[in-house]
Amino acid sequence: MASVAVLGGLVPPRVNPGTAAILSEALIVFMNKDSWACIEQNSYYSQCLPASSSASSTAGSSPIISMPTTSVPTTSAPTSQLPTSTSSASLTGIAASAPTTPPSKLTGKTPALGWNSWNAYGCEISEEKVIAAANQFISLGLKDAGYEFVNIDDCWSLQARNSTTQQIIPDSSKFPNGISSVASQVHALGLKLGIYGDAGTETCSGFPGSLGYENLDASTFADWGVDYLKYDNCNVPGNWSDSGTPQGNDWYNSNSAIRYRQMGAALAVQSNPMQFNLCIWGNANVWQWGARVGHSWRMGSDSSASWSYITSILTQNVQYLSYIDFWAHNDMDMMEIGNGDLTIEEQRTHFAAWCFLKSPILLGTDLSLLSTEQIAIITNTELLAFHQDDTIGTPAMPFTPAPSTPTASPPEFYAGPSSAGTHVFVINTSGSSAAMSFDFVNVPGLANGGAGSFVVHDMWAGEDVGTFSESYSTTLSSHDTAAFLLTLA
Ligand code: GAL
Repeated sequence: MASVAVLGGLVPPRVNPGTAAILSEALIVFMNKDSWACIEQNSYYSQCLPASSSASSTAGSSPIISMPTTSVPTTSAPTSQLPTSTSSASLTGIAASAPTTPPSKLTGKTPALGWNSWNAYGCEISEEKVIAAANQFISLGLKDAGYEFVNIDDCWSLQARNSTTQQIIPDSSKFPNGISSVASQVHALGLKLGIYGDAGTETCSGFPGSLGYENLDASTFADWGVDYLKYDNCNVPGNWSDSGTPQGNDWYNSNSAIRYRQMGAALAVQSNPMQFNLCIWGNANVWQWGARVGHSWRMGSDSSASWSYITSILTQNVQYLSYIDFWAHNDMDMMEIGNGDLTIEEQRTHFAAWCFLKSPILLGTDLSLLSTEQIAIITNTELLAFHQDDTIGTPAMPFTPAPSTPTASPPEFYAGPSSAGTHVFVINTSGSSAAMSFDFVNVPGLANGGAGSFVVHDMWAGEDVGTFSESYSTTLSSHDTAAFLLTLA
């Protein structure tokens, strides 16, 4: 525990920054005047329960603890070998009766491609900004490139539910015509609308959470015409957190997973398919059970417009790439292209890595301010074709390019197939320009075992570089990424 503070007053409100930042892992314990004790794990996340309570409830008993961020497996298993849930007959408590409804297969086969309001605007959102983004999908050619989702993040509702119906109420100062009108306008452009909710009592910015209201909220979102739900993890009551190993040693049975399973089941019975993103920050070993509950799941803390964020989320994610396939996507969080002072090379790497690891790509900036160069990056046809490939769902995987190449963290060389052939992606993580080479015999899956000559095609430029045998060497600027398709000559 990095720091502990006991406060005598009210629980401080969760106030989010306007722009996302890497969250500290500090745990802060504080008490409010009604003797609720809360743990704040990071700027967004707290769990609260009565200090005197033994924390027993339908959700099982849990002391006030942090989420199991340290409890990660040392190995990963392919999607086909995911642990099957312990038979419900042998489970106790809420795990015995929790829904097991799988996510819809009518959406989310390939990773989501779109935009989200948070990194651009934080809580300062409005119908005008969301509809402007949707129109820019058309005018900038993003829709033609495959971008589809226009997603509203936190702060869209009033702080209180309707006292009679208990429905969440859109904030009319931000969305004067309601969310259904926004959905209609977005649909009229041939796009889809996403919204944000929370698997706790309040969202991270203090608006109504859906814990205990899953069916009502799912049907409200469906009535409005929502196509995508990002479901966050703030303000979780202590008795809904996790302590120790879940039943059957399967994190699908954890209290965290059950909070998400409840919303997943509520979404599944709506008439329109809704894509379900589990914004659980890599907690509760979500990669092991995420595909049984939703279509994508956050692998870590919030993105920031920094090279250190890009390398840290890559380092985290590469441990769990075998869980990625159709309808199952590790989410490295929303894009920062256009924000902060990422170099153009770093923005290329940000986009390329999210493509070749098949993370959802949700742009997170004011689209009207993007430069021609940035628009060229995010509409690169060949990288998007790899990301959205309809016949191969797996990502590129790290490989060792030559026996003498030292291991880097995050890895610098990745290879993987698409319907076009075998691809190699190379990231220069060093602080200076470097010549980077790979031997064809070491590229997994390359035709003919890598023997013979290969046409090397540059996916960024959309043109062939030439024909080479044995190996290929490219000089890359610091923090840039090269992307190639290799075809037997
Ligand atoms: C965080 C989440 C962010 C953003 C924010 C809104 O928990 O990771 O992506 O949604 O909440 O308050």
